[in-house]
Amino acid sequence: LRRTSVQDLLRSTDLDREVLVKGWVRTRRGNKYVQFIAVNDGSGFNSIQVVANAEQFPEEKLKADGVDNGAAVAVRGKLVASQGKGQSVEIQAEEITVYGTADQDAYPLQKKGHTLEFLRGIAHLRPRTNTFGAVLRIRHAMSFAVHKYFNDHGYFYIHTPIITGSDAEGAGQMFRVTTLSDTKPPLDEAGAVDYSQDFFGKATNLTVSGQLEGEVAAMALGKVYTFGPTFRAENSNTARHLAEFWMIEPEVAFFDLQDNMDLAEDFLKSLVRYALEHCPDDLQFLNDHYDKELLNRLQFVVENDFKRLTYTEAVEILKGAKQKFEFPVDWGTDLQSEHERYLVEKHFKKPVILTNYPKDIKAFYMKLDEDGRTVRAMDVLFPGIGEIIGGSQREDDLQKLQQRMQEMHVPEEDLWWYLDTRRFGSAPHAGFGLGFERLILFITGMANIRDVIPFPRFPKSAEF
Ligand code: 4AD
Ligand code: MG
Repeated sequence: LRRTSVQDLLRSTDLDREVLVKGWVRTRRGNKYVQFIAVNDGSGFNSIQVVANAEQFPEEKLKADGVDNGAAVAVRGKLVASQGKGQSVEIQAEEITVYGTADQDAYPLQKKGHTLEFLRGIAHLRPRTNTFGAVLRIRHAMSFAVHKYFNDHGYFYIHTPIITGSDAEGAGQMFRVTTLSDTKPPLDEAGAVDYSQDFFGKATNLTVSGQLEGEVAAMALGKVYTFGPTFRAENSNTARHLAEFWMIEPEVAFFDLQDNMDLAEDFLKSLVRYALEHCPDDLQFLNDHYDKELLNRLQFVVENDFKRLTYTEAVEILKGAKQKFEFPVDWGTDLQSEHERYLVEKHFKKPVILTNYPKDIKAFYMKLDEDGRTVRAMDVLFPGIGEIIGGSQREDDLQKLQQRMQEMHVPEEDLWWYLDTRRFGSAPHAGFGLGFERLILFITGMANIRDVIPFPRFPKSAEF
């Protein structure tokens, strides 16, 4: 007798046959005549109900064997139509084997609901809860949907380095990489760490973005994307920032800013649509337990066009707003999340794409506009999230790019290889970065980014 997954059994119409499931007990309840054991194997949101007749399985025996919340079990029995409501099939138990018990006094996941904050402290056990099971299955579905979208549209997946000598964003928020040795790090004559002696022969850091390498690939393969971990050593303790997060970065040759916006909008809508189609049980649970507007909001994003306007137009709107902001708005300053959320949630009441930001608040690689003051940047802002995507058309003119690098103190010798793409066969191109965890925040309706990644990395998180 081979094991069947709980989800396959719940969908099965082939009844009155012998089946075997293996999973973990979620609850056991009942009386002296019959006991009901909910078994979940992670294959989907719903558990299967196991009915244990008291003649064969008296409550005292189940208890003594440890058939309780958290125990790992195998159940052999007959799959039958269920009399109870809430499920169409159940298993009449014939044999219950316990692999591992969970001491009810010590097991942290009690039957009562736990706060998300409490669960953050036991990140190794929280995948066993309904909430994190749902989030992790949705996270998987979204990873798959990302690859599917790009594959269906003729893009190539490029693996970009994690250890790199360059700072793609020029923002200096990097984690330094050094080799550990049993001697002290080699010092130069001035007493500074001598990186030329290090493994890579120069100072290296964990990547903040795969974009620059993505651009290199786009200049050969045309349409590419990256999807990998990125690192930011910013000391932000917010519900939207992680020190280690995953980013998806498409980069496309011969794309301008318009094409880039069209791609971002179509891509986001297609990901949300995929979730609605493939994760109905998990989304319904999150909708019912955390955020009653979740499904409506997801549907709205799929069905409505995003609002597109320039940074300059947005600043005018914000200056005219009745709402008092904590940070004042002035042309040339970066927008704070309170401003972004005002535009999305109060003013337009839909996703917004802001373009053409002042050059001084954006990265060196963005293409300069004709006015010489703004660049072809775009940020996609989402309800409840703020910035979900940041991107731009890239500067493809060698001289202009070199000048921007000088102005912004980006060392040319670190990026000679990047500049070569502008020296040899340079072409217009554009791309963007989607923060994967911010996408998952939006799709699950969770409020804190630490709750949408299995092991969140943030300042002082060193538990795992
Ligand atoms: O706006 P960012 O910094 O843009 C880039 O890194 C570009 N190189 C992307 C590109 O054009 N290829 O980051 C892109 C996105 C943000 O919009 C946000 O969703 C996410 O990455 N992000 C973070 N997510 C979680 N924690 C952080 N600390 C994040 N920083 C950025
Ligand atoms: Mg950004």
